[in-house]
Amino acid sequence: MYIRFLVSLTLLLGLFFVNSNTAAGQQVGVCYGRFGDNLPSPAETIELFKQKNIRRIRLYSPDHDVLAALRGSDIEVMLGLPNRDLEQVASSQSKADMWVQNNVSNYVDDVKFRYVSVGNEVKIFDSYSQFLVPAMENIDRAVSRAGLGDRIKVSTAVDMAVLGESYPPSKGSFKGEVMVLMEPIIRFLVNKKSPLHLNLYTYFSYAGNSDTIGLDYALFTASPGTVSDPPRSYQNLFDAMLDAVHSALERSGGESLEVVVSETGWPTEGGTSTNLENARIYNNNLINHVKNGTPKRPGKEIETYIFAMYDENVKQTPPDVEKFWGLFHPNKQPKYEVNFG
Ligand SMILES: *[C@@H]1O[C@H](CO)[C@@H](O)[C@H](O)[C@H]1NC(C)=O
Repeated sequence: MYIRFLVSLTLLLGLFFVNSNTAAGQQVGVCYGRFGDNLPSPAETIELFKQKNIRRIRLYSPDHDVLAALRGSDIEVMLGLPNRDLEQVASSQSKADMWVQNNVSNYVDDVKFRYVSVGNEVKIFDSYSQFLVPAMENIDRAVSRAGLGDRIKVSTAVDMAVLGESYPPSKGSFKGEVMVLMEPIIRFLVNKKSPLHLNLYTYFSYAGNSDTIGLDYALFTASPGTVSDPPRSYQNLFDAMLDAVHSALERSGGESLEVVVSETGWPTEGGTSTNLENARIYNNNLINHVKNGTPKRPGKEIETYIFAMYDENVKQTPPDVEKFWGLFHPNKQPKYEVNFG
């Protein structure tokens, strides 16, 4: 009787926590890119995250001033390990252990790490691509050794260029030549029950194909059933692109994997259909939309990170559009209203 009471109490509490979690709808985070020479300090930035109720952050490297500012904040962190450090952590377990000790363990008492995302958009022809999976393995072992294996998942972020086929979504598959890298990544993630991180730029797909892709389809404002892919149909490009990746994973032994959208957004200047209004519509619709999952994975919230917190005026790489993805001006005023709940 007593045991049964305890069991049902636990179930009840469990349900309560699950519910309060989804009701809060706090799954959408923001990427903190820092290629600007006019940006507010890390402390001011983390204050702005709190003020705007942004509960998750993606960092591209473990900058200690940022990690210090995150102490005690309760903001969940996707922590990047930059490409330039892949070789070092792949080369020895003790270097990976030091990386985790110095950049994670030192902060773990009052910073909530969710992932270490090892490498960003590593391409097969990058000189360091051979180090990616060994680096993931060493960092994963270091995280376990530090006693953090049940709290922090290790993954890597890929972009849509890994797909050969992406249309219709059910036909999604990876390019043959990327499998030399994707296959061990998928095997690692399946083993570790870690999600794949995916930088998903609906904007670039739309802008590169605006003769065939409607702006409304890219902005989540088209009619249901705009694209038919029996037995499913698609109302928006975001779902179609994400399901193409789900299909590709199913074809490659990764059907059990979850996908976290580690970057998406809409720029306000510098390209086709770039303006404040379209960016406002995209990001607000995105926040409402991701609660519901995709046609292939309905009802399952998609963990998502908007790119980016600020415009980044130091970015030199053309096209110019790269500089204008920010939600906020350097003076911390919103460029347009985005509601994080
Ligand atoms: C902490 O991370 C940075 C960025 O990856 C790296 O350069 C540095 O070596 C790391 N610290 C240690 C002790 O490994």
